[in-house]
Amino acid sequence: KKVYGIIGAAGSGKRMAASLPKQFLKIGGKTILETTVEKFETSSIIDKIIIVTAEDYQELCCQFFHKQLNEEKIHIICGGRERQDSVYEAVRYLEHMGAVDDSLVLIHDGVRPYVSGDLIRRVAESAAVNGAAVAAVQPKDTIRQIDAGTLDRSKLWCVQTPQAFRFSILKKAFETAYCDGFYGTDDAGLVERIGQEVCIVEGENSNIKITTPEDLTVENRIGTGFDV
Ligand code: C5P
Repeated sequence: KKVYGIIGAAGSGKRMAASLPKQFLKIGGKTILETTVEKFETSSIIDKIIIVTAEDYQELCCQFFHKQLNEEKIHIICGGRERQDSVYEAVRYLEHMGAVDDSLVLIHDGVRPYVSGDLIRRVAESAAVNGAAVAAVQPKDTIRQIDAGTLDRSKLWCVQTPQAFRFSILKKAFETAYCDGFYGTDDAGLVERIGQEVCIVEGENSNIKITTPEDLTVENRIGTGFDV
């Protein structure tokens, strides 16, 4: 069965406050999005990649990936208002591409270029067995909740992507969320709402989501394999 990768890249990157959305900024001579997509392209377990982008950046994206588009290894589609809407567009598109109940789908943020091939493989393997899996790391800081004081850090996880799901589970989770008018901040949250357990796979501290300008500083890139 085929394994699909969805790369969400339709955000406007307001928190980066740059002239271009952050996924189109360059690190080491290449855009963040190209670097992220490359990690999935070079993963031996991924068969097809769907990149979700805003309408205004479709053309630019097609330029980056024209070779892979011709080979139909990559497909580029239009995203929606929120991250969840963008992923849902891709989920619906997968049906047209022939995804079946047992197909595996990995969802990844276009702004997490430091993900390793090993993590992609481990999350996929866990989802193949358990139906749903997310990469996550334990917080390094002590976390306090207003009114509840210091939380037990051993029970906390910072959720990353990739998140991987059996297609039937993912489809049901998204359809149920839209039916209920529910919006979450990640895909696993929607999957848990339908009663499906989501397995945690030990993520990587280097697998940061590039969000604000300091995420692009030299100090943050040391040890990630990128030019500094
Ligand atoms: O905004 P945030 O950093 O949470 O975005 C996470 C990922 O979701 C980014 O890769 C962004 O491009 C993507 N996204 C999307 N469609 C949106 C908003 C965000 O694909 N409408």
